[in-house]
Amino acid sequence: MAYAAFRSIGAYAPSKVLSNDDLAKMVDTSDEWITKRTGIKERRIAANDEFTSDMGMKAAEKAIERSGLDKSEIDMVICATISPDYFCMPSTATIISTKLGLGNVTAFDISAACTGFVYILSIAKAFIESGMKKNVLIIGAEKLSAITDYTDRATCILFGDGAGAAIISATDNKDEAIIDIHTGADGQFADLLMSPNGGSGSFHDTLEQEATSCFMQMKGNETFKVAVKTLTKDVVEILKENNIQSSDIKHFVPHQANLRIIKAVGDALKLEDEQVVLTVEKYGNTSGASIPMAINDIYESGRLQAGELMLLDAFGGGLTWGSALVPFSPLK
Ligand code: COA
Repeated sequence: MAYAAFRSIGAYAPSKVLSNDDLAKMVDTSDEWITKRTGIKERRIAANDEFTSDMGMKAAEKAIERSGLDKSEIDMVICATISPDYFCMPSTATIISTKLGLGNVTAFDISAACTGFVYILSIAKAFIESGMKKNVLIIGAEKLSAITDYTDRATCILFGDGAGAAIISATDNKDEAIIDIHTGADGQFADLLMSPNGGSGSFHDTLEQEATSCFMQMKGNETFKVAVKTLTKDVVEILKENNIQSSDIKHFVPHQANLRIIKAVGDALKLEDEQVVLTVEKYGNTSGASIPMAINDIYESGRLQAGELMLLDAFGGGLTWGSALVPFSPLK
C-alpha cells in the first residue's frame, strides 16, 4: 500500500502591509482594541493586479523547488480558496498549473473556507493511498481583501492576503506517512460566517449590490465560542484515537484567526508556548492560506526539522473543521 508523505512547504506574502493604525484611519477602531481582542498587529494586502493565482503560483514554486521533484512528476493540483480569481470558472488550480507550466494534470478548487488546507490535505492523501496519484501539489491561496468590506470594523480588521503550498507524495515508508486526518462540517451554523450574496441563492436589483455582493459577514462573538469548542474537541479526539500525547507534538499549527482562540485551545491541550506556532500577529487571518503560511514560517526560520510531528487544527465558514497529524518528511 502507498502512504502519503508531506514532503515540502512554500509560501508567499504580498509586500504591502496594512497596520492596525492604518485601519484606525479607515474605520472607528484602534491598535489597542484590535491587539487585545485578536492578537493581530498587521496583515498583507495584494496589489490590484496581483491575483489569488499569482500568489498561489509563487508559493507553489517554492514548494516544488524544495521537494526535489521535477515539475513533470506532479500529477494533481488542488487549490483551497474562497477568493478565487473567478467565482464560477475557470478554477484557480487550473490557472496556477498553467502559470507553473505543469502541462496536463488534474486540477480543481475546493471551498471549505479556513479549513480548506486540511480538506485538500485529506484529498491528496486519499488519492495517493488509492494509487491514483503520486505527487500532489496542494495550495491554500487567498485574496481576502477582494471580499472584505473595509467599512465594516467587525470584519475588516481580521483578514489578510497570502498563499501557502505543499507537495504530498507517495511513499512505501510508513514512518514518513501522514498519520491521520479528521474533517467535518455542519451547515446549521452557515449564517455565522458567510458571503450571503453573489451566488445562485441571491438576486441583485442594482449594480451597487452586485459590486459588494461577495463581502464576508460574520457573527464574531458566536463564531468565537463555537470555534473554541469545536477546535478543542477535534484535536482531543484525533490525539486519543491515535494514542498520541500532546507532549509528543513538536509543532501545533492552528488556523491563525485569533490569538485568544489559539491560546484557549493550547491551554486545553496543556501545550507549552514553544509548541504553538503563531503568525496571526503579522498576517491576520488568511483563511485557507493560514496553516501552510504558518508551516512555512517555522520551516524558513529553521524550527521545522525532518521527522518532527505537526498537529494541524482548522475551523471556518460552513461551518467546517479539521485536524491532522503530519510528520514533516522531506526527501533526504
Ligand atoms: N474596533 C473597536 N470596537 C469594535 C470593533 C473594532 N474593530 N469591532 C467591534 N467592536 C465593538 C462592538 O461594536 C461592541 O461594542 P458594544 O459593546 O458597544 O456593542 C464591542 O466592540 C464588542 O463586540 P464583540 O463583537 O462582542 O467583540 P468580541 O470580543 O467578540 O471581538 C472579534 C470581536 C471579531 C475579534 C471576535 O468575536 C472574534 O475574533 N471572533 C471569531 C472570529 C473568527 O475567528 N472568525 C473566523 C473563523 S475562521
